[in-house]
Amino acid sequence: MGIFSSKNHLNENMLPETLPGHVAIIMDGNGRWAKKRGLPRTAGHSKGVKTFEDVVEMCFTAGVNTVTVYAFSTENWKRPDSEVQYILKLLDEYLDICVEKCLKKGIRMRIIGDRSILPAEMIQKMNDSEEKTAHLHYNLNVAINYGSRAEICHAVNSLIADGKTEITEADISSRLYTAPVGDPDLIIRTGGEIRLSNYLMWQASYAEFYFTDTLWPDFGKKDLYKAFHKFAKTHRRFGGL
Ligand code: IPE
Ligand code: IPE
Ligand code: MG
Repeated sequence: MGIFSSKNHLNENMLPETLPGHVAIIMDGNGRWAKKRGLPRTAGHSKGVKTFEDVVEMCFTAGVNTVTVYAFSTENWKRPDSEVQYILKLLDEYLDICVEKCLKKGIRMRIIGDRSILPAEMIQKMNDSEEKTAHLHYNLNVAINYGSRAEICHAVNSLIADGKTEITEADISSRLYTAPVGDPDLIIRTGGEIRLSNYLMWQASYAEFYFTDTLWPDFGKKDLYKAFHKFAKTHRRFGGL
């Protein structure tokens, strides 16, 4: 084994042969990360943005084609207004940085969720970042004011508005915010909870799951590669043999 203590140690730092094409991430645990350090929850969100930048870059460098991250849910409005405003301001500021990075790296940005109730300038920024990057190959989807149930209702209502009276699975899939990028192959959730919290419920039908206790601001390359290795070992049957 030479300088490596075990085969596992060697593997963890290398990419497996099979990678998920589309990775979705529930970035949870920012508040607890801050609390553990005696910091305000907002400090966890700031650190979380840095982790987000790093992990997204690691995914694309590894060879993943699409990354879909959960940044703010339709239920997160229940939090104290000061925290909600802080998160939205962080996201708003980050949009500017993100679009520049995406342009450099060949990544198409999409914001998924109901943007209509967000501040007008933020909506403008979202529209601009999507337009500016629309010609690029890789996909980064950021879920802001996103909820799976709301997304499915929105899809069905848009079909009704078009006069549809009988709706197929393909119809619904075609009207989801994720229609252009399809379903995730792997869903990662940090922060220890084993639940979807209203994220990509339709799209998750045949996704593989990777749950870790690691809090989002602590999530790094080692954790990401562990998730990739677990994914690579899975035999996906999609109901067949
Ligand atoms: C995830 O971290 C970020 C958002 C939901 C916006 P949390 O803020 O939920 O952190 P915990 O789960 O309370 O630790
Ligand atoms: C899910 O985390 C939402 C995001 C990561 C944006 P939450 O912290 O809101 O989920 P619950 O409340 O623990 O289910
Ligand atoms: Mg949480």
